Amino acid sequence: MPPETVHSELSTAQLTAWKDEEASLLESLEQIEHKHGFIPRNIAEEISRVIEVKLDRLKKLQTKVESNVRKEVDTLVEKWKDEEGSLILILHEIENQHGYVPREIAMEVSYALGVKLARIYEVLTFYNYFKLKPPGRHNMALCMGTACYLKGAPAMLAEAKTLLKVEEGATTADREWHLDVVRCIGCCGMSPAMVVDGKTYGRLNASDVSRIVNQTTQPKAAL
Ligand code: FES
Repeated sequence: MPPETVHSELSTAQLTAWKDEEASLLESLEQIEHKHGFIPRNIAEEISRVIEVKLDRLKKLQTKVESNVRKEVDTLVEKWKDEEGSLILILHEIENQHGYVPREIAMEVSYALGVKLARIYEVLTFYNYFKLKPPGRHNMALCMGTACYLKGAPAMLAEAKTLLKVEEGATTADREWHLDVVRCIGCCGMSPAMVVDGKTYGRLNASDVSRIVNQTTQPKAAL
């Protein structure tokens, strides 16, 4: 599992717990220093030992993550190395598998293929298909093609931005929703239209946006 994915799967509560633990250690040290005027050697040694054990565990975890990334990239390089356009084929597989192209994996691809990282990012940013950040659990692609635009898509977009509290092309802080604006999804006859989690909705108005968001978030709720 790539490091960014690991990070994205850490809950806010876990991160807060780790920060609280650090804050509590610092507070204890301040109290000990206040009491003795210095930090006694046996306490300092005990704390160092605990920190070293934690660091050692973290290093082992990092090694495991790096070796998983390397294995994944080596497999893809082996599969595509003889094909024309191997770089883009590899990037497509990574995108399909992770929903985006994590930086750590892009770096490993750069190393494995001997292609500069800057070149890889040129490709990634040239094609809209590739994402550089993890997508949301739910994805909304709102059509702003001409037909949809003329029939009220801007009001739908404004409603989606207000409702989800996110700008177009971005993901909500809790990674629940990603909002994209696209140009024509091929359903002009039922404009304005949008796609949510792969399902197409048409003949919408702004008030439908919240209905569809609720319906998607709580699929069992009465519609
Ligand atoms: S313009 Fe929106 S579906 Fe074609």
